[in-house]
Amino acid sequence: MLPRKFIYIYLCGTVAAFVWIFINFATWCTDNGDEIDLEKKKVQIFQQKYESQKNDIEVLRRQLDELKVELRRAETRLSQRDNDLSSLPKIYLITPTHTRPEQKADLTRLSYTLRHVPNIHWIVIEDSPSKTVLVKKFLAGCKLSYTHLNVATPENYKLKESDPNWLKPRGVLQRNAGIDWIQKQPQTKGVVYFADDDNTYDLQVFEEMRFTVKVSVWPVGLVGYLWYESPVIKNGKVSGWYTYWKPNRKFAMDMAGFAVNLRLFKENPSAVFHMKAGRGNLESDLLTQLGVTMDDLEPKASGCTKVLVWHTRTEKSSLKNEDKMLKLYGYNSDKTIEV
Ligand code: UGA
Ligand code: MN
Repeated sequence: MLPRKFIYIYLCGTVAAFVWIFINFATWCTDNGDEIDLEKKKVQIFQQKYESQKNDIEVLRRQLDELKVELRRAETRLSQRDNDLSSLPKIYLITPTHTRPEQKADLTRLSYTLRHVPNIHWIVIEDSPSKTVLVKKFLAGCKLSYTHLNVATPENYKLKESDPNWLKPRGVLQRNAGIDWIQKQPQTKGVVYFADDDNTYDLQVFEEMRFTVKVSVWPVGLVGYLWYESPVIKNGKVSGWYTYWKPNRKFAMDMAGFAVNLRLFKENPSAVFHMKAGRGNLESDLLTQLGVTMDDLEPKASGCTKVLVWHTRTEKSSLKNEDKMLKLYGYNSDKTIEV
């Protein structure tokens, strides 16, 4: 027989265990309940998020549809604009160019201007017996509609280092090659402009010349050792010339100061620049051959009161340290790097 004491202890232990289980059971149940509530809340939050994101997606979808419609409208407008631009009279730009250290820099600057001008064709004529790799590569990447030609100025017509720059005309045979190319094209509509490679052009000058009937004229800045040279306007017509150098020339203008309707070249197929036209007379001589009269001249640039083109000239770069570099350090600039 177990002693009573043990039975008593056993019973007390069992009761205590039950009480402990009972007390904790409540706690366990509450804990689980809390967790479930928490999970339920999480699910609720996720559902709310899902609903609001669904709404967002719906809103975005509607916006996307609207944007698609807008894009289609913009594309239509753009192609309309392209059509309108390509129906504008084409400007044929004739640019003589010659090899020199600054050539690529000048051509780059000019081409970047021309990229902003709609409906143009750029005729670039090298003063060279053959087309150079530099200009060939440059034009291939210039993103413009272009024609590349070349013709060399004979040695006896080339300026010497020591010659004053007015002694012999520049770019004459090259511009003539450009004219010859144009004469061979079937097109009869358009405008011809002689754009030297070192001048500075306001985009507006191209729009001023776009609808030239015969010959458009305007001032040229920083030319002839003056702030500007300009046609003199009286009652809306050209009455003479504001220029220091021979104002009595028939058309006392710089090459940059006028543009000619292509038709005039077609009607006068023998009109070209003459090497022997005389100092500062190239332009006047050509316009005379084209049968132009003072009355034909159309003043542009707000009645010739605005300068939209500048006869800038790129400073000749001195490369005198190349030789010194070689002497002092034993090496100089890498000639395989195109400048
Ligand atoms: C001025 C006028 O603005 C030119 O239109 C005119 O042709 C020239 O005078 C002239 O008297 O013949 P300027 O700045 O003195 O121009 O001349 P450049 O800019 O040196 O030459 C005019 C164009 O001919 C340039 O596009 C130039 O690259 C080109 N050129 C120059 C040649 O094709 N070959 C040369 O040997 C020199
Ligand atoms: Mn120049």
